[in-house]
Amino acid sequence: MTSGPETSSTSATKKMSQIILLYSTTDGHTREICKFLQQVIEQSGHRVTLACIDDDPAVELNDFEKIVIGASIRYGKHSKKAVNFIKTYTPLLEQKPNAFFSVNVVARKAEKSQPETNPYLQKLLSQIEWKPRELAVFAGKIDYPKYSFWDRNMIRFIMWMTKGPTDPNSSIEFTDWEQVKKFAQLISKM
Ligand SMILES: Cc1cc2nc3c(=O)[nH]c(=O)nc-3n(C[C@H](O)[C@H](O)[C@H](O)COP(=O)(O)O)c2cc1C
Repeated sequence: MTSGPETSSTSATKKMSQIILLYSTTDGHTREICKFLQQVIEQSGHRVTLACIDDDPAVELNDFEKIVIGASIRYGKHSKKAVNFIKTYTPLLEQKPNAFFSVNVVARKAEKSQPETNPYLQKLLSQIEWKPRELAVFAGKIDYPKYSFWDRNMIRFIMWMTKGPTDPNSSIEFTDWEQVKKFAQLISKM
């Protein structure tokens, strides 16, 4: 005889997946997004492992049932390591449920905030063969005090040109965490 609670716990166990979130970051914001994704995904009963592509992680991708990659933009590009990683593992990525997200500040603008309208994500997709099953673009963070003199003033100039904040003492997070949460829920279900 099967009781109700037993049945539901068995089906919950069956649905649990091992998920890897691989990220490439310069100032740590993409890692913060991954930590948040991890928190939300684990609340739905999955196990999440984080690994930084920039550190050449020794991970066995075959140990995971779902693979997610996230990378930030710096001076118009995703990191070489992230792009090379994607190119190297494309056949394996396509064998499993998979997703990609890009982090940049252009995405703070509504008209560039979707995967279809974000120029960096579109450029990346045109350079790789991988067609991620799920895509997202998240607006990043500007942390002027943390940057070198050169970077701070370059970003201030770009921000001035695009009507963004330019106060060199400011730190502004553009990320919409509700949007990140929705992406986490999508990953849990894919
Ligand atoms: C030196 C530098 C260059 C950047 N270049 C761009 C850029 O070309 N386009 C853009 O949309 N965002 C740009 N950004 C914003 C970053 O994408 C944003 O700060 C993001 O949150 C960084 O994520 P990370 O900390 O994970 O590297 C730049 C930021 C810095 C510090």
